[in-house]
Amino acid sequence: MGYKPTDNSDFEGKVQLRQWLLDQLGGVKKLGVLECFGGEGHLHDACYTQAKKHMAFELRAMPHRPTWISGDNQILLEKHVQGWDLYDLDAYASPWYMAHSVCRLRGPGRFGIVATCCTNRTLRAGNMMGYERFASGYGKLPNSPLLVRFYDDIIRCVVNEWFRFGVQFEKGKRLRSAARSSPTRYYAFVLNKQGA
Ligand SMILES: C[S@@+](CC[C@H](N)C(=O)[O-])C[C@H]1O[C@@H](n2cnc3c(N)ncnc32)[C@H](O)[C@@H]1O
Repeated sequence: MGYKPTDNSDFEGKVQLRQWLLDQLGGVKKLGVLECFGGEGHLHDACYTQAKKHMAFELRAMPHRPTWISGDNQILLEKHVQGWDLYDLDAYASPWYMAHSVCRLRGPGRFGIVATCCTNRTLRAGNMMGYERFASGYGKLPNSPLLVRFYDDIIRCVVNEWFRFGVQFEKGKRLRSAARSSPTRYYAFVLNKQGA
């Protein structure tokens, strides 16, 4: 049986993490939020209804959601990346290439990234995403379930990559999935990009 993604399997934890990040950045009412994986809007409704400004990308059309833009987030990001305080990357698979693009493209200033990471699941299945192979330097390792041993290293490497774009790490928080058997991890980062 194939894996069926669920949109919000650890909803409580996801909301807690976002509330922590919103507080760190000065409170939701002062912040602009860009959700790169907007989905049905469950997280929006729980966390961002009072945001100063909001936009969400979603592959599926969501005509009843006025702040949603439909399309591929990597393509949309380039045009819309500027002017947000918090980037929400609630991905089904890996959020790390999107996080890399945010850090690369965004202008200077303090901002946050909150991400859902299923990299562990991919590694357990014996695969590594192309971007993660590139960023970690583990590109030559063969596909194997043993790849999961490198999980923490891979995450350290993708975060370290952000320094290349002048993005400094201020603080962060990580949560495990409430279902202990689930490999999904949740991350929130307070970051600061230095000026050119
Ligand atoms: C985990 S769900 C997000 C759930 C959402 N945060 C919520 O609270 O309802 C991931 C969503 O990302 C969307 N998605 C996946 N790849 C995408 C892409 N390349 N561009 C835009 N949306 C994408 C999927 O259609 C799915 O709705």
